[in-house]
Amino acid sequence: MHSVNDIRSAFLEYFRKHGHEVVASGPLVPHNDPTLLFTNAGMVQFKNVFTGNETRAYARAVTAQKCVRAGGKHNDLDNVGYTARHHTFFEMLGNFSFGDYFKELAIELAWTLITREFGLTVDRLMVTVYSEDDEAHRLWRRIAGLPESKIVRIPTKDNFWAMGDTGPCGPCSEIFYDHGPDIPGGPPGSAEADGDRFIEIWNLVFMQFEQVTPEQRIDLPKPSIDTGMGLERTAAVMQGVHDNYAIDLFRALIEASESASGVAASGEHRVAHRVIADHLRAASFLIADGVMPSNEGRGYVLRRIMRRAMRHAHMMGCEPLMWRLVPALVGAMGTAYPELGRAQALVTETLKLEESRFREMLERGLGHLDEAVAALPAGVDLPGEVAFRLYDTYGFPLDLTEDALRGQGRKVEHAGFKAAMERQRAAARAHWAGSGDQATERVWFEVRERAGATEFLGYAVEAAEAKVVALVVEGKEVDSAGAGTEVAVVVNQTPFYGESGGQMGDAGIVEGPVGARIEVRDTQKRLGALHVHLGTVTAGRIAVGDEVRLAIDGERRRRLRANHSATHLLHQALRRRLGDHVVQKGSLVAPDRLRFDFSHPKAVTAEELAAIEADVNRQILANAEVGTRLMSPDDAVAAGALALFGEKYGEEVRVVAMGTADDRAYSVELCGGTHVRRTGDIGILRIVAEGAVAAGVRRVEALTAEGAREHLAAQEERLGAVASLLRVAPAEVPARVAALIEERRRLERELTEARKKLSLGGGRGSNGDDVRDIGGVKLAAQHLVDVPAKDLKGLADAWKHRLGSGVVALVAVADGKAALVVGVTEDLTDRYDAVALVRVGAAELGGKGGGGRPDMAQAGGPDAGRAQAALAAIEHALAKATAAAE
Ligand code: SER
Repeated sequence: MHSVNDIRSAFLEYFRKHGHEVVASGPLVPHNDPTLLFTNAGMVQFKNVFTGNETRAYARAVTAQKCVRAGGKHNDLDNVGYTARHHTFFEMLGNFSFGDYFKELAIELAWTLITREFGLTVDRLMVTVYSEDDEAHRLWRRIAGLPESKIVRIPTKDNFWAMGDTGPCGPCSEIFYDHGPDIPGGPPGSAEADGDRFIEIWNLVFMQFEQVTPEQRIDLPKPSIDTGMGLERTAAVMQGVHDNYAIDLFRALIEASESASGVAASGEHRVAHRVIADHLRAASFLIADGVMPSNEGRGYVLRRIMRRAMRHAHMMGCEPLMWRLVPALVGAMGTAYPELGRAQALVTETLKLEESRFREMLERGLGHLDEAVAALPAGVDLPGEVAFRLYDTYGFPLDLTEDALRGQGRKVEHAGFKAAMERQRAAARAHWAGSGDQATERVWFEVRERAGATEFLGYAVEAAEAKVVALVVEGKEVDSAGAGTEVAVVVNQTPFYGESGGQMGDAGIVEGPVGARIEVRDTQKRLGALHVHLGTVTAGRIAVGDEVRLAIDGERRRRLRANHSATHLLHQALRRRLGDHVVQKGSLVAPDRLRFDFSHPKAVTAEELAAIEADVNRQILANAEVGTRLMSPDDAVAAGALALFGEKYGEEVRVVAMGTADDRAYSVELCGGTHVRRTGDIGILRIVAEGAVAAGVRRVEALTAEGAREHLAAQEERLGAVASLLRVAPAEVPARVAALIEERRRLERELTEARKKLSLGGGRGSNGDDVRDIGGVKLAAQHLVDVPAKDLKGLADAWKHRLGSGVVALVAVADGKAALVVGVTEDLTDRYDAVALVRVGAAELGGKGGGGRPDMAQAGGPDAGRAQAALAAIEHALAKATAAAE
């Protein structure tokens, strides 16, 4: 038997042998297309190669591409499970020529593969060509030797393949397989073509044009080839079955589902197992490619798929089921798609979480639905109002309700559903209008309502294409903006992170059609949902509806990531070293630094800081992978997440875990920010400051990676400069400086002693020194030069000692100011007051006041030139006092 894995490998190998580069599947979320919800064909990753906007090192390629057709333009969701061939997820095998070979070789390669390598019976094969494509018709005759009757000309767009309203396109030719007369249906082009007998297995597109706008079509630079073979259908043909769900891959998944549920895949539960097997693939691959269940955009399509499958599992009466099937899926497809194995834990947890959280709502909602249906006459559709209530209250996606009603042949009345949705919107609008918010916020509210939330692609990529949904200039929406304008741009999807959770927004470039360019300085979030790119139009003109390419400044983001992850590690290290009272009070993650504020009653000591820094660096060096999960808030807290008070979270939270300690993650935090892949990417952490910001709140500032390295280099340079001034090795600097300080103290002491001696000895240190007798009292009065004011008291004491009994007045002049000290020996304090005397001197020096005790007082003044006059005034006052005493 040809297993699915064998067929995939054989296809890739066949084209490899024919000079094709084997290229890995592109992601399910296309980053090079602004309008596609999911990758829905093999050519999506090559779109810009066909149009000539991108070049690759090869001109031939072959892929097995993951595709999802659910939500958006191609939506197969409704039929999945009930038909033989509808899938939400499928694989497309394809060979591509970028201006290399064209129709002839494409047909030859295809024909040889299916007839020789795959051994399909020629009699069972037929082909279609676009009615005007005589060349393809001729080639099929010549190469395949098919008779006229087996080459059908189709005049409709069925045989003119286009990616969408715009993009590369061209006539195509499809290969059909006839499953035989037992199956109802007619050949392509016939009235019964919709039947299941003739199945298209391979589409060869002769890419020739690019649809630039819905009206304008231009030639591609070079004719090219894009083919798409449905792997599941081809496997059915090669395994001799008609139903895709009977191929080996699906059998394995359905068997796993049977054994996990304990319910056989036959009778009333046949569809349930098929739905589960299909949706398991779509959900798991989407999660592995970074989509997370949410209430908008891609995340909502994922949620719809998951919940639809979960209803079927619930109907079988079993416990949450999907997550238990992940090992079977990884076993079947993990070799061909290694990303599935890498994401296994994330896929499992996400499925489990969604299923367990939705379970209760599902049960209650289904009860509600049953009651509503019981009240309806037979054959009447469910009122839209009821479907809306199920959606709004119980989280029932519309397709789930429709699927639930399918068995009874009932539908949902769509108009009523839409009307109820619109009524709710109008009520929200009215509420908003009444809330008195500012006009500018109202602009964002309107954009949000009209365009929905911006989808953030920046966890996975740094560049992406998108559609402009709003432009705001000076607080008002505009249709376009020209060069020189400050503009706020909103697009449907973006790699730009909007400032939140302390992490600054991204900067970068937005490029529009015909040379338009916007330099984005910052990205802010509005209403928690819109990423608003703030920048200046530097060239051209940008308009709403334009398809643009957005690229963030990757280097800046790299630094932001390192600083953000380092903040988490720092937070945890602080808690471990200082205690659980440490709670985050604020943080800033900038490209060049990080700042973390936290509750702690006192300064963090140098030793504590050193230990904290070492802890963080140990985690960095261990270089463990950083994990990101969606969890319920309760599970997150149970996993050790630090719940951040005051933050609002939805029903699921993003949990970032990093590092290891005691067999658990070292740090677990709820966080929407962008993080490094492994802790080693942080490089190094260096704490550069610690201080108080408010009572009981401390702030630590730190640097990582280059910032830390530059900081350390600058420190080292300074140390080197000091060492060279000291003429010692850097390691000897501390001892040398300590010795110098000690030496300086000693010198100061010696100097003071020397000055004292000089002063007392009337030597060169004094100016006009004298000891005079003033009416029987000894007065030592000195005008000292270059003696620091702080030495005056010590000197005055020495004079008092020397005089035995008397008064001393010393003026010192330094730095243009005069300092004055007056001392009175103990025996004279009842007659003379040092404070009164010093004030007399201070008045001469232009100073105010003066203070001290009766035996020692000091003062100062700005008029340094009046030092001698101050001494004279004191002498005079002393003389007067002495005379008065007599
Ligand atoms: N792009 C074409 C298709 O999707 C062939 O790959 O059918």
